[in-house]
Amino acid sequence: MKILDGKLLAKSLNDELSKKILSYNNEYGRKPHLLVILVGDNPASQVYVKNKEKKAAEVGIKSTIIRLSKDVSENNLLKVIDEANANISVDSILVQLPLPNHINSNKVIDRISIEKDVDGFNSKNIGLLALGRPKVIPCTPLGCYKMLESILDLEGKKVIILGRSNIVGKPLSFLLTNKNATVTLAHSKSKNLKDLCLSSDIIIAAIGKPNFVKKEWVKENAVIIDVGINVIEDKNGLRKIVGDVDYEDVIKKVSFISPVPGGVGPMTIHCLLSNTFLLTKN
Ligand code: GUN
Repeated sequence: MKILDGKLLAKSLNDELSKKILSYNNEYGRKPHLLVILVGDNPASQVYVKNKEKKAAEVGIKSTIIRLSKDVSENNLLKVIDEANANISVDSILVQLPLPNHINSNKVIDRISIEKDVDGFNSKNIGLLALGRPKVIPCTPLGCYKMLESILDLEGKKVIILGRSNIVGKPLSFLLTNKNATVTLAHSKSKNLKDLCLSSDIIIAAIGKPNFVKKEWVKENAVIIDVGINVIEDKNGLRKIVGDVDYEDVIKKVSFISPVPGGVGPMTIHCLLSNTFLLTKN
């Protein structure tokens, strides 16, 4: 069994990226600029945004965070996005999800200009990805792909993705299909999940259920990518972060597995930074 070390891979990719950003800065006298909009005080979102800010600075990307109250009206949020779209000093825009319930997330996401949509969640970007003509690929799916690509050839591989969210499962199914994998996109209404997993070379878990995937579901020498980030209390009442896969249970059976934390998370942030640079160059 080998650990698919996302932290290490992200570090090496970030080092490469920072060299490219340095030479861009030398040529144009400016840094790429990422604008993050954070609405409300969701604790997980606060942590994610802090991490993005820190990593952006490390590779030479300027980041600005606009913090809005959880009561902000949808109209005011849309106005902030309109201003950012029109601001030529801003290269990429990210609205941290989830948004409060009174705001229509689809409307907000589609308001971000396609030229600045660093998450690739805009319906046009998702459509282009589905058609195999991607411009900006969503960060977590792209991070999962880069991890897989670092260890194997996806062509003809049977992949099961657990979870059909708009930000991970669905775009990832398009991306891996475009890379010639045979993809099953499973979800809470799927039947025979265990059998579907057992016949797959690669399992990607993105369902948000702690330790959901057990060894009985996993084929010998399978590869596992664990997208889950779940906070649980252990036997001693201590809070800890675990994935959607029961790591200790499956570990003897798999050929590779990405840990939580230190797997997909750092790769997602790397892809946010590389997407920012892509939009900056464009
Ligand atoms: N919330 C959880 N994951 C993401 C992500 O990839 N992008 C944004 N904008 N919000 C998120």
